Amino acid sequence: MFLMGSAPGPETVINGKRCLYFGGTGYFGLHGHPAVIRAGIAAFRHGTHAATTRSGFGNNSALLDVERKLAAFFGTAEAVYYASGYLNGLFLAQGHARAFDVAFVDEAAHYSIRDGVAAAGKRAVGYKHLDPADLGRKLKGSLGRGWSPAVFTDGVFPTFGEIAPLPDLLEALRPYGGILCLDDAHGVGVLGENGRGTLEHFGIAPSLKISMAGTLSKAFGGHGGFIPGPASLIRRIRREVGAYAGSMPAPTPIAAASAKGIDLVASHPEWRAALRANVRRAKAGLRKLGLAADDTPVPVIAWTLGSAAEMKRVQRALLDRGIAVACLKYAGAPAGGVLRVTIFSTHTPDDIDRLIDELGRIL
Ligand SMILES: Cc1ncc(COP(=O)(O)O)c(C=O)c1O
Repeated sequence: MFLMGSAPGPETVINGKRCLYFGGTGYFGLHGHPAVIRAGIAAFRHGTHAATTRSGFGNNSALLDVERKLAAFFGTAEAVYYASGYLNGLFLAQGHARAFDVAFVDEAAHYSIRDGVAAAGKRAVGYKHLDPADLGRKLKGSLGRGWSPAVFTDGVFPTFGEIAPLPDLLEALRPYGGILCLDDAHGVGVLGENGRGTLEHFGIAPSLKISMAGTLSKAFGGHGGFIPGPASLIRRIRREVGAYAGSMPAPTPIAAASAKGIDLVASHPEWRAALRANVRRAKAGLRKLGLAADDTPVPVIAWTLGSAAEMKRVQRALLDRGIAVACLKYAGAPAGGVLRVTIFSTHTPDDIDRLIDELGRIL
């Protein structure tokens, strides 16, 4: 087990030792940002949370602030904020429950989607990972007369960092009507000119038929899941999703810290440019080592290198040299797991070059 002894950032204390850190998903280094921490501490004067749900007395200015800022960030009429990004699939599936009969789910989709669709009581049909042609076949073969489909996919897949082929998925879905639901936990803040995520990356506008959910726990340096969208959808979610009606909202200091994170990402588009430059540098260097890396702006790169034991060896050897990368078994990973590197806007070019140099020596 590893023990993290500081806020995650380009340098992070792991097992008591300061390391160059290429793990986790703090893409803009905001989890330890002084303004984020100050906002959280100041909000403690309102208590840990309201100790009641939001359908009663449980609203407070921190929660409403997050939702207002999310709607402005994503350019939607409204947004709903809840305690965890893991609930994204459940909120999407229950929020749209009346609009579809069968869920068509990418086979490498995150737990949030798989568990959420199941908890919403919907039949799920898997389609091959990133494969619109297979989606088309599954739609054709699985829909009864008058049934409506919903396609569920991650926007950016967390293990290998692939971007879902949204235009082609929408094209496969078009003859059947239906809706597209996106868990964009890793796309929001990072992809698109304004950081609105995978939809913006492809120039697709959200609508009643195209919904996305995100999390504040990664690029935004806070915590909690959210769905930006039209007022009618958000109203329905507040009314009909059990996890909204029946559980406490995000803790107040976390909401306040998250609101500050949204402000910071909104007012620093140059961080996205810095992240992209770092991703380009890292991927180019990794390719020179013979490691596969696509050319998207996604700051997640992973490989299966031989056996699980071999990947552990590489991870340990890097740690001995003061560099931390992840070795993980996660949604979409093969049984032996992957070695995964994540890049931040706050890494320096030297940090990235050191990772490449050391990896080159170890491999
Ligand atoms: C695709 C995806 N969805 C949802 C989540 C859950 O978000 P959170 O950790 O903010 O609950 C994660 C990762 O943590 C993820 O990778």
